[in-house]
This record gives sequence, structure tokens and C-alpha cells, in this order.
Amino acid sequence: MNVFMTGGTGFVGTTLSAALAAKGGQVTVLTRSAGRESSVPPGVTLVEGDPTEKGPWQEEAAGHDVIINMAGASIFNRWSRETKKAIRDSRILTTRHLAEAVSGRGDKQTLFLSTSAVGYYGFHGDEALDESGPPGDDFLADVCMHWEAEARTASQSGARVVICRFGIVLGTRGGALGEMLPLFRKGLGSPLGSGKQWVSWVHERDLVNIYLHLMARKDMAGPINCTAPNPVRNRKLAEALSRAVGKPFLMPAVPGFMLKLIKGEVGSILLKGQKVLPEKLLGSGFRFEFTTIEDALEDLV
Ligand SMILES: NC(=O)c1ccc[n+]([C@@H]2O[C@H](COP(=O)([O-])OP(=O)(O)OC[C@H]3O[C@@H](n4cnc5c(N)ncnc54)[C@H](OP(=O)(O)O)[C@@H]3O)[C@@H](O)[C@H]2O)c1
Repeated sequence: MNVFMTGGTGFVGTTLSAALAAKGGQVTVLTRSAGRESSVPPGVTLVEGDPTEKGPWQEEAAGHDVIINMAGASIFNRWSRETKKAIRDSRILTTRHLAEAVSGRGDKQTLFLSTSAVGYYGFHGDEALDESGPPGDDFLADVCMHWEAEARTASQSGARVVICRFGIVLGTRGGALGEMLPLFRKGLGSPLGSGKQWVSWVHERDLVNIYLHLMARKDMAGPINCTAPNPVRNRKLAEALSRAVGKPFLMPAVPGFMLKLIKGEVGSILLKGQKVLPEKLLGSGFRFEFTTIEDALEDLV
């Protein structure tokens, strides 16, 4: 298995590239800043290039059978015009350039695993959403729609295109849990806003196994919800995390207006959520190791 990855230096990418290399895969990671070989897992090679620009890296990508596309500027900085542009370009242009690289592979079949997010669906209150759910109409939903559309163009050159709609990935070395843990360990954890908003999450180990499953199952393509089967409300997540770190759950909720004041527009996405179900994974026989938030947090914390 030879794999080319964008975003392979990030929180999820590092975990996934290490797991694939440990299984004997040859993993090449594209990064905008090479020269930090010491920080990548054994079996992973870095190549330098900016995926938002065309370049020689596209030829390098074309030499691989599996492409995993995970690049994306953080969505958690205050949304100025510039940060919104970086959020869009780092995903949409990167995916366009990868799809172009795939088209140069002639008859060789490529597996193109591109990332998206449950933000695709926008906000739906308590409605449960499978992969057939309609897209939302907010900024992130729009980014996801265009991100996915660019990935789908690779199927015109015969690639098997799988679009992984991630929920919140839970792991200790980054992501949402990495941010939350220090506060919760001090006993300062609390729900956000009403705490009723849904959080669709997935344990990082299940996510790695989802990728292995999707690689093996040649019949699977299109959007796949990469979320555990039991999404939770924000209050339940906060309660479970407090319990996992052994702290009482006493803090009052962070008022929504305060979150918006501190974080701006991005604060509002923390106050809304979506209840997303992994219909296609379950239908294909995938078995989650972590199905409840309590088990996932106990393992991670
Ligand atoms: N973590 C989650 O819970 C979650 C949930 C839903 C969706 N996702 C999506 O999954 C992907 C990976 O998430 P993550 O948490 O692992 O992200 P991360 O830790 O922030 O890593 C992002 C990666 O993208 C690259 N990158 C950052 N800014 C870029 C830019 N302006 N232009 C081009 N490349 C850029 C970085 O590569 P270099 O700096 O090495 O070039 C880095 O490896 C992202 O697309 C994210 O939107 C994540």
C-alpha cells in the first residue's frame, strides 16, 4: 500500500499515517514546511509543497495508489475575511489539485479518500441525519459542499472516491478533547450555551479502523459519516468528561452570548450541532470499538 497524504502532519493525520506505516504502508506526507523528519512517525516520508498551489508535488502524488486528503486551516480562529478565505482555499484548492493529479494516472486506479465534516448538514436540531441528509446553508456547510464537489471530480478519471464526513474526532493529542482537557482537569468544565446541542463524535482509534475498512471495501464510495453510533448532547459530553477526569460537574454553563463575544461568528457553531448517524458504515458491517461517550473518554483520559 503506498499512500500520499495532505494534512498528514496534523492531529488526525499524524495518528493515521503512523497507523498505516505500522501496517507496512509507505506513506508520503505533503507539508508546507518539511525539515521536521524527527517529528514524523517511522515509515513516513515528508515532501515539501503547498497543496493550495499547483506544483511538482502533484507528480509525486500521481505515483501513489491511495490518496488521503486531510489538509485544512483551523476553523477555530476568529473568522475574519482572511481566515474564511484560508479555511476555504486550504480545502477546496487542495482537493482540486489532488483530483488533477489523479487524472494524470492513466489507467491505474486510485483510491481517493477525501475529508469533509458533519458541518455539511448545517444545523438540524434533534433530527437524526444519515448520508442522504440535505446540505445546510451556513458558511461551513458551503465549504463542505465545495470541498466534496472537488473530490468527486476525481471519479471522472476512474478513481474510487470516498468522502469521509468526520464528526468531532476524540484523541488526547489535539482536536476538541485536547482543548477541553486542561480546563476539565482543573474542574472548570461546563456545558456551552443550553448544552442541548448535539455532538457527533468519533474515537481516533475507530477512525483509523474506518480508513482501513474503507480501503478494503472496494464496493464503498461517496459520502460516509465517520461518527460513532451514539451522538450526545453537549451537556452529556461535559458531564462524562468531568466524570472521566474525576472532577465534580458543578460549573454553570457558559452563556451563549459570551461565547459569541469571545469567539465571534465561530462561537455560534459551538452552540449548535447535528445528530449524525453512521448508517453506511454500520450497513457495511463495520464494528465500532467505542460506541458510547463514556467508554471513549474512559479509554482516552
Ligand atoms: N479534528 C476534528 O475533530 C475534525 C472534525 C471534522 C473535520 N476535520 C477535518 O479533518 C482534517 C484534519 O483535521 P485535524 O484536526 O487533523 O487538523 P489539524 O491538526 O489542524 O491539521 C491540519 C493540516 O492541514 C494542513 N494545513 C493547515 N493550514 C493549511 C493551509 N492554510 N493550507 C494548506 N494546508 C494547511 C497542515 O499541514 P502543514 O502545516 O504540514 O502544511 C496540517 O497538517 C481537516 O481538514 C479538518 O477540517 C477534523
